[in-house]
Amino acid sequence: MKFFLDTANLDEIRQAASLGVLDGVTTNPSLIAKEGAKFEQRIHDICEIVQGPVSAEVVSTEAEAMYEEAQKLKKIHRWVVIKLPIIPEGLRAAKRLVAEGVKVNMTLCFSASQALLVGKLGVAYVSPFLGRLDDISHVGMDLIRDIVTIYRNYAFKTEVLSASLRHPLHVVDAAKAGSHVATMPFKVFDQLVKHPLTDKGLAQFLKDWEKVKDKVL
Ligand code: E4P
Repeated sequence: MKFFLDTANLDEIRQAASLGVLDGVTTNPSLIAKEGAKFEQRIHDICEIVQGPVSAEVVSTEAEAMYEEAQKLKKIHRWVVIKLPIIPEGLRAAKRLVAEGVKVNMTLCFSASQALLVGKLGVAYVSPFLGRLDDISHVGMDLIRDIVTIYRNYAFKTEVLSASLRHPLHVVDAAKAGSHVATMPFKVFDQLVKHPLTDKGLAQFLKDWEKVKDKVL
C-alpha cells in the first residue's frame, strides 16, 4: 500500500518523508487555504520534498476551464497530478487529459457507480471519501470494498486512493480491502507507529540495561 499525506503543511510532509515511507501527497483547496500560502509555490515546494505524486485540485467547474487550469497546474512540477471532481464536466475534462497522458485523480467519490465511470476513463486514481460517509452513518469501508471488487473484475488500471481517513483503523481496513493508496492527515500517519506496549517495553529494556551495562560492556 502506498502512503500519501493529506496536507499542504511543509513541516508535516518533511517529517513524514524522513521516515522513508511517504509515497505522495494530496491537497485540496481547503487544505491550501488553511496554510495561507501561495498556491503554485506551495505545490512546487511539496513536490520537491516528496518526489512522488502530488495532487493539485482545479477550482473550475466547466470542462474547458478545468482543462485550461490543468495545463497551468501541470507546468508547476513534473510530479503534479490533476485532481478533478466527479461531475459530468470533470469526466469530460478527464477524458481529454487522459488522452494526453496526464495523471488524473478523480475526487469526491461517494458511490460505486461514480467509481465505475472513473475506472472506464482510465485515470490514475479514484478518491473515495470514507470518513465523510461514516459521518453520515454510511459504512465508508463498504464503498472501498465495492470499488476494489469492480476494478478487479474488469482489470481497471485506476488505483483506489482511500481518502478522508480519520484514524489508523481506517488505514488498516483499507489495506485489508486491497486499496492501492491511503491518504491521511499527519495526525493519523503519526498514530500508525505508536503503541503503548512498544513504549512500555522499550522503557523496561533500557532500565534493565542500565543495571548491567558496566558488567557486560
Ligand atoms: C483527499 O484527497 C481529500 O482531500 C481528503 O481526504 C478529504 O478529507 P476530509 O474529509 O477529512 O476533509
